[in-house]
Amino acid sequence: MNRPGLFLVLEGSEGSGKSTLLEPLASRIRDAGEEPVVVREPGTTRAAEFARQALLDPEHTLGPVAELFFYLAARADLVQTVIRPALAAGRVVLSDRFALSTEAYQMAGRGLPPEVVLPANSAAADRLVPDLTLILDLPPAVGQARQVAAGKRLDRLDRESAEFHRRVIEFYLAVRGDGVRHLDGCLPPDRLLQAAWAEVVAVAPGRFAAG
Ligand SMILES: Nc1ncnc2c1ncn2[C@@H]1O[C@H](COP(=O)(O)OP(=O)(O)O)[C@@H](O)[C@H]1O
Ligand SMILES: [Mg+2]
Repeated sequence: MNRPGLFLVLEGSEGSGKSTLLEPLASRIRDAGEEPVVVREPGTTRAAEFARQALLDPEHTLGPVAELFFYLAARADLVQTVIRPALAAGRVVLSDRFALSTEAYQMAGRGLPPEVVLPANSAAADRLVPDLTLILDLPPAVGQARQVAAGKRLDRLDRESAEFHRRVIEFYLAVRGDGVRHLDGCLPPDRLLQAAWAEVVAVAPGRFAAG
């Protein structure tokens, strides 16, 4: 079988429902006859999981540039060792976050200049652009309330200011582009899955049967 790979990404602020949607969406892809390669950022590879630990530990006082390069090191390793090979083998790759997160958090959130972030980000992603990016839109207070309700232990990023999270969310809301679709993160999980699946089918016509 010689068909191209398909790269699908879930994006959105903390608590917007990415990780919750990931498994049911992967399952829907399986039902349609393909075993997806499921990854999360930062992480998945051994080296990238080290970076994840460094990034999330509330004891670490990373500056914005140190933080940027931990994320990019994690991404470069994941792209090189997992995502590129999977796509080259014609697989469907489903990722919890990708390069757009760096634009949202490091540029919009931290205020690092685009001329620093964008070329480095593109290099870390090995110029790879997702076929479909699903952004889960959610008002800031809702994401936070969900995390509190779930009793999540707040990591280094969760502890950032409300203003930081507001900038991130506003960035996500404004993103437009080829292969970018916004979904209403306030939908109940089954409706969200339905909406996400419709977008996946639409971006890869002929690959999956709708339904
Ligand atoms: N569609 C949804 N409706 C209501 N609650 C949700 C929905 N999706 C996720 N949640 C809840 O919100 C919290 C954060 O979800 P999660 O998937 O971990 O978000 P993210 O990975 O985007 O940070 C979890 O407690 C989860 O159970
Ligand atoms: Mg998550």
